[in-house]
Amino acid sequence: MELRRGAVTVFVLVMCLCSMPEAQLQVGFYESTCPQAEAVVAEELRRGLASNIGLAAGLVRMHFHDCFVRGCDGSVLIDSTSTNKAEKDSPINNPSLRGFEVIDNAKTRLESACKGIVSCADVLAFAARDSVAMTGGMRYQVPGGRRDGRVSLDSEVLTNLPGPTFDVSQLNQSFANKGLNMEEMVTLSGAHSIGRSHCSSFSSRLYSFNATASEDPSLDANYAAQLKQQCPQSSNNSSLVVFMDPRSPYSMDASYYGNLLQNLGLFASDQVLASDSATASQVMQNVAGGGIAWKRKFAAAMAKMGQIGVLTGSDGEIRTNCRVIN
Ligand code: HEM
Ligand SMILES: *[C@@H]1O[C@H](CO)[C@@H](O)[C@H](O)[C@H]1NC(C)=O
Ligand SMILES: *[C@@H]1O[C@H](CO)[C@@H](O)[C@H](O)[C@H]1NC(C)=O
Ligand SMILES: *[C@@H]1O[C@H](CO)[C@@H](O)[C@H](O)[C@H]1NC(C)=O
Ligand SMILES: *[C@@H]1O[C@H](CO)[C@@H](O)[C@H](O)[C@H]1NC(C)=O
Repeated sequence: MELRRGAVTVFVLVMCLCSMPEAQLQVGFYESTCPQAEAVVAEELRRGLASNIGLAAGLVRMHFHDCFVRGCDGSVLIDSTSTNKAEKDSPINNPSLRGFEVIDNAKTRLESACKGIVSCADVLAFAARDSVAMTGGMRYQVPGGRRDGRVSLDSEVLTNLPGPTFDVSQLNQSFANKGLNMEEMVTLSGAHSIGRSHCSSFSSRLYSFNATASEDPSLDANYAAQLKQQCPQSSNNSSLVVFMDPRSPYSMDASYYGNLLQNLGLFASDQVLASDSATASQVMQNVAGGGIAWKRKFAAAMAKMGQIGVLTGSDGEIRTNCRVIN
């Protein structure tokens, strides 16, 4: 009898272990372990935006670059070392990625309030969510529980992120590789409604388009002339930047899609969304809806992007310093 009960116990235990669902992200993940976690991130973001409103765009982009390279595991936050060139030092990220200090400040406070509990990957996901909300986008829930990765390689950045000269099929493929469909790709591209770009990211559209045309004919001529003034061909200043959406550079709104219909997309990868028959109808719907429908879709797509390739349970670690592997 005793033996049988023991066997049953072992059997039940094994069943439980085997059928235990993989650890998953969860809304309110830190409710009992660090209840102030999300509020601290919001507070540090607000403080950061007070000195530089552009950091909101920086953090939305940083989350995207984190998630597309090795999943949303905070790997983009890791500093290079003498033996490893990290993601953040890829030319795609350095010097253009910004907002690291907001993450550091939030993490420092969270380590002193609840040591070893809140991951850097979650801090970044929360900060990106709040950046969307604070610039006029729709607020969405971000489940927590991401763990921090222990690997960050410059060599994985270029191969996993889309480029500004991509056409629709390349964009589609790049997002499909991360489990996001074409509509979500068009929806998420609307993040280019805020922020800035360095001239080097699009100057080929102004000066060296192809063998027969120096200027990209799909770029509005007046806009091109204005961009040429902001990005002179003769300049050797690599710090020059322009707004992605000059009409409302700090507002997360559907004007991005309206711009595309007027050939005012900054990157070729933006403008093609309006000209390719596979995506043009999405662009028009996003404009027609006055922004509400797009904001809802954007929130949902951000939440989905935030779950790409996450580490959970006992995988990875909770980094003490977001810049350094424990
Ligand atoms: C669809 C393919 C995409 C391409 C090719 C692309 C490319 C770029 C490039 C080249 C820049 C300018 C960087 C610089 O020169 O300073 C940029 C900026 C930006 N991107 Fe994207 N991006 C894409 C999708 C996304 C997505 C999905 C998001 C977020 C959900 C995003 C958010 C941003 C933001 C907010 C900025 C402005 C950053 C700042 O002001 O610091 N992008 N993107
Ligand atoms: C987009 O990607 C999906 C998945 O790879 C593919 O089935 C579809 O044909 C692609 N569409 C276009 C227009 O490239
Ligand atoms: C250059 O681009 C234009 C406009 O897209 C196109 O009509 C032309 O065929 C291209 N020329 C070459 C040599 O690729
Ligand atoms: C940029 O060009 C100016 C002259 O046009 C030169 O004095 C300066 O050293 C150059 N700077 C860099 C970083 O090459
Ligand atoms: C380069 O451009 C940046 C941004 O506009 C500006 O702050 C800086 O002073 C410029 N540097 C030089 C050497 O002109």
